[in-house]
Formats: sequence, C-alpha cells, structure tokens
Amino acid sequence: MNYDVSENDQFTTVYPGLIIPFFGVGRKMACTILALGGDGIGPEVVDAALRVLDIAAGSIGLVLDISEDLLHGACWERHGTFVRAETLARARETDALLVGATGGPRWDHIVVDGGPEEQDGLMKLRHELQVFACLRHARAFDAVLNRTAFKPEVIRGADVMVMRELCGGAMFSPTRGIDSAGSGGRRGYDLNEYTEAEIERFARVGFEVARRRRKRVLSVDKSNVFVVGKLWREVVDRVGKDEFPDVELTHYYTDNAAYQLCRRPADFDVILADNLFGDILSDQSGAIAGSLGMLPSACLAELPLGGRSQKPAIYEPVHGSAPDIAGQGIANPLGTILSAAMLLDYSAGEVICARKIEAAVEATLNEGYATPDLGGRHGTQQMTDAVIRNFRRL
Ligand code: NAD
Ligand code: IPM
Ligand code: MN
Repeated sequence: MNYDVSENDQFTTVYPGLIIPFFGVGRKMACTILALGGDGIGPEVVDAALRVLDIAAGSIGLVLDISEDLLHGACWERHGTFVRAETLARARETDALLVGATGGPRWDHIVVDGGPEEQDGLMKLRHELQVFACLRHARAFDAVLNRTAFKPEVIRGADVMVMRELCGGAMFSPTRGIDSAGSGGRRGYDLNEYTEAEIERFARVGFEVARRRRKRVLSVDKSNVFVVGKLWREVVDRVGKDEFPDVELTHYYTDNAAYQLCRRPADFDVILADNLFGDILSDQSGAIAGSLGMLPSACLAELPLGGRSQKPAIYEPVHGSAPDIAGQGIANPLGTILSAAMLLDYSAGEVICARKIEAAVEATLNEGYATPDLGGRHGTQQMTDAVIRNFRRL
C-alpha cells in the first residue's frame, strides 16, 4: 500500500470506494515532470496539456518542476539515437513523464542494434521504467454522441477502461527475427510469451482498478488457439477468485470481445488484455469517444492506493504522431489533456484537481467545441483555451 502524506497539505486516505481529504498547513511536495513531445502532432498536444497543467497546478499551490527533452525521431535528427542516456537517467528520477507520440515515415524503417525496446524511444522508456499496467480510458461524452459512428442509444453511457499489459508479450520478446525457412523462403517471427508472474502482477492492478469502478472485469485471450492464452486465462481466473471475489470476472475470446465492443459498448467496464490485444482494442475503443484523439492513458509500475505513485509513470495519449495532420494546428488535444489529469491523479495524488480537468473537458465539449476529427472546425489552441476558461470557471 502506498501512502505518501509527509509533505502534502491535502492528503487522501483511501479505503475502497471512500476518499477523505484533509486540509492542513505546510507545503505540497513538488511534482517533477519530464515532457517529451516526440514526433508529428506529439509536441503540439503536449504543449496544450502543459498549459492546462500549469493553470491546474497553480490553482492548488502545487509546484511543477517541468523539464523538456527530445524523443524518438526528433532525438534521432539531433543526436542520432531514439533516446539519450541522460534522458533515461532523468526519467528514472522523475515523478511523471508526459509523452506526445513517437514515429513517422522518416524513421519507421530504421533498425537499431538490440531488442525491440531499442527500436522506439517510447518502447525503451516503457521497458526501463517497467510500467507494465497501462490504463486506457474511453468515455462516450454526451455532447459528442452524435459525432460517433454509433447510434446515440447504443453508445450513451459507455465508459470503458482498456487495461493493456505494456512490458511483455510479443511486443517485447527477444525471440524474434527474419531468417531462412528453406524452400518456404524467409520466415518472420515474434514469440508471444508471458510468465505467470507477469500475468499475475498485471491482473492484480486490473482487478484493483475495477474495484474503484463498476467491479466488472472482462479478460480477453485466444486460449482456444494459443497456449499462452490458456496460461493467461488460468492465472487471471486464480487471481480473481482468490484475491478479488467481490469483482465479477468474465472471459471472452478476443475476437468476440472486439465484436461485442462494437455492438454493445455500454456493457463494458474494465477489459484486461495482453500487450498486442490491448493495443488493438484500445484504438478500437477510440470510436466510443468519437475520435482516437480523445483517449488518455496512464502507464504505471504500481497502482497507488491513495497518495502518489512512488515510481515514475508515463502519461500519453493513445493515438500516434498522426503525420497526416501534423503542423496544421488542428490536432485534438483532449487525449493529452486528459492524460495530464491522470498524471495529477496517480503521480501527484491530486484527485480533486484531476476530476476538475475532466469536468472542464466535458464542459468544453458541451459548449460545442470540436476539432476536425470530431467533425468540427476548432483548432488545437481554441480547444485548449476553452478548457482553461472552463477550468477557471468551475
Ligand atoms: P495515428 O494514431 O497516428 O493516426 C491514426 C488516425 O487518427 C489518423 O487519421 C490521424 O490523423 C488520427 N488522429 C490520431 N490522433 C489524433 C488527434 N489527436 N487529433 C486528430 N486526429 C488524430 O496512427 P498511425 O497513422 O497508424 O501511425 C502514425 C505514426 O505514429 C507511426 O509512426 C506509428 O508507429 C506511430 N504511433 C505512435 C504511437 C505512440 O507514440 N504512442 C501510437 C500509435 C502509433
Ligand atoms: C501505442 C503505439 C505503440 C505500441 C507503438 C508506437 C510502439 O501503437 O502506444 O499504442 O504499439 O505500443
Ligand atoms: Mn497503438
């Protein structure tokens, strides 16, 4: 359990489902943030989120110690590497990283010596910091129901947390390559492997997150085909039965889960998925919010049960660098602004302030603000200005 109240003048003691704030004297502990815009629209949306963070922190007397650096393509252009050693060293010391996005046609073909984590600056950070539990939140905001691809009555009320295992599976397996398969030509492979310990630690966070929501977990796997899926199902089932009997647990095959998520998105609460399935289902859940640009994420190495995480965490929108719209000032900043809210929640312990940012986002959508991905005409800056105005008003 993680309580950190030493220098906080507003600390929270968290019992399941109950938060009691106390107000005292003394100074809040500063929150250190490493901001890495990355590539494409990454720097545009990170700038927007930093503006909101600055106002939000100022409103509660929280000091933010923010430093900025280059990541992935932007870093490659300047330093010839996807992430510098000093950036990694700083990341290990910081409370939170706010990352935009990495990648783009200019760098996607580059192959670097070493394992999968060396091929992408963000993958390297995830691996170094062991942020194995990724919370990707998709909500159907009332104001944009008509801007989604769903009928309003199908999508209304949907609120899904796709939990993606972020440090294992095929994405990080060292067993990969392209070699010769004789008469079959070349053979490409990435081994999808999970240890019991990896599944267990992830499942625990997933059930804990569900306890704070509607207490329903859907675990997805392909145990009808893959052996690794059989282990996944067995371990998740054991953790659920032994440690979280109060949480309802269901298992679906991933293909069926994707189908049901399209048909009846409002029925889902927490979805537990491995690295690959979680990547896919989280993008799919972008449709629930009307745009991939709306989805935030928190990538955690532990789930703080009150107070702030003791380990560095990464906050990033779910979307990528969107090269098709980069530099035009039209990127939707809400996924990154909502990621900043998650940062205040999990890495600063400022739950109330985090909820206020979310309320400001909702109020902005209610006023009719919408970037082009939502079918509107507002730019990144107009949307951000409106969120800030609403935050100040609330
Ligand atoms: P993408 O998420 O960048 O874009 C998919 C589509 O969604 C595009 O049409 C894009 O314009 C739109 N979109 C995404 N974010 C948006 C926003 N905030 N506002 C408005 N529209 C938005 O995925 P992609 O095109 O498959 O990949 C582009 C690059 O990004 C690739 O190099 C890929 O590897 C990388 N990528 C990085 C991350 C990350 O850093 N976490 C995630 C996904 C993809
Ligand atoms: C994401 C992205 C990344 C992933 C890429 C850019 C490495 O798609 O964060 O969802 O696959 O994890
Ligand atoms: Mn993805």
